[in-house]
Amino acid sequence: MKVLFAAAEASPFIKVGGLGDVLGGLPKELCLKGVDARVVIPLYSSINDDLKRTMRYIANITVENSWRKSYCGIFEAEHEGVKYYFIDNEQYFMRGNVYGEPDDGERFAFFSRAVLEILPVIDFFPDIINANDWHTGLVCVYLNAHYRLREGFEKIKTVLSIHNIEFQGKFNPYVLGELFGLDTEHKQILMYDGDLNILKGGIESSDIVSTVSRKYAEEILGKEHSFGLHNILKARRDKIRGIINGIDTTVFNPETDGFIKTNYGISTLRNKRFNKTFLQRSMALEEKSSVPLIGMVTRLTKQKGLDLFYEVMDEISELNIQLVVLGTGAFEYEEMMHDWERRRYDKVRGVVRFAPDVASMIYAGADLFLMPSKFEPCGLAQMIAMRYGTIPIVHTVGGLCDTVTPYNPETKEGDGITFQSYNSYDMLDAIKRAIAIYENKADWLKIRKNAMQKDVSWNIPADEYIKMYKELV
Ligand code: GLC
Repeated sequence: MKVLFAAAEASPFIKVGGLGDVLGGLPKELCLKGVDARVVIPLYSSINDDLKRTMRYIANITVENSWRKSYCGIFEAEHEGVKYYFIDNEQYFMRGNVYGEPDDGERFAFFSRAVLEILPVIDFFPDIINANDWHTGLVCVYLNAHYRLREGFEKIKTVLSIHNIEFQGKFNPYVLGELFGLDTEHKQILMYDGDLNILKGGIESSDIVSTVSRKYAEEILGKEHSFGLHNILKARRDKIRGIINGIDTTVFNPETDGFIKTNYGISTLRNKRFNKTFLQRSMALEEKSSVPLIGMVTRLTKQKGLDLFYEVMDEISELNIQLVVLGTGAFEYEEMMHDWERRRYDKVRGVVRFAPDVASMIYAGADLFLMPSKFEPCGLAQMIAMRYGTIPIVHTVGGLCDTVTPYNPETKEGDGITFQSYNSYDMLDAIKRAIAIYENKADWLKIRKNAMQKDVSWNIPADEYIKMYKELV
């Protein structure tokens, strides 16, 4: 079976968020299972030079969209058994940002066109194209609109994976022809609520719509979590699937992680404490082993539940804890973290920058890992934390609900602490419950072992993807 993943990011080449991790992990696992899975992403100038040096130039073509005739270089690289293709066009991809450019519509329309145009050149006609999020939603639309009669394209099936339905790619209807190169006969496919909505067009045009957890697949059928698309999805309920993400357990591995002070595994869990001391020292926090250290590695955005802090900041600060938050994002939350640190320098640190090394130090050094997301399609950090024996405290929503089992002191089962409603006092209560478990030696050891033993790899999810693909071909 041949699968081509089209996406805006793929680790290790380029990673802004969880999408990049998925495109780094899933294709690799599929290849190990005998699928010919390949990936195509834009050739961003910000890809680091070492990785760029592994790329080989294949050819260049002209990609036409509307009146534009654009240069499209095609590069190729192999990474850990997976073939990656890179679409080169400096006008579109020689930028500081992956997303958030004023011409994102034009950039990703070009990219989506290019994904289809390169197939005869690379001589790879996949059985399935798996598009990801709105950036590549147009691949599914263009395939039906312009390519079905061309040789090799007739039978290609499409899956559109939604990683976050908040981002839909909405544009003024007037740009349909000018920007996207589509005729009025295709207008209805994209139109929604007065906008051209690329994600909606992708949902309409793909054979299967998948999301990154079972719970999120249910949630987006309702008003609360759909960002307006629930009716569209409800009408297509039969083609929606929810498959939980995994994490790359060779990358996220406390036994080999090069950023942490002392490597450890489940049989050497005692050594985890050296990482706690190291984290405390690096952060200039008091080096006490008895005080529970709570970590967070997050984007500082509304989605991640930071609003909950405003109400209970003082109560949290009064608890016998230390708190280290790493992340960047919205100005107001960055300020909140700076401010909180200033006021409670005895126990709170807000590290407002992007730092994968500090992230590893937190996963390894913290005792508890807080993830109070308002919504969370899957969430990877809670799985990484579990793998590092750091116990997640999560709001039971989306993938957090599917991946974290609340600990039950009676049965000794479970690997995290959960709270049900999106409410600051429920979060506070969960933190207190977590501290209670931390203080009970037997429970604390058990819950950490449970967490580390949990299979958070891509093994099972990849099997589910294969099942879904087989259903299609
Ligand atoms: C998005 C979602 C996150 C998910 C990731 C990968 O970033 O917000 O929950 O884990 O995509 O699918």
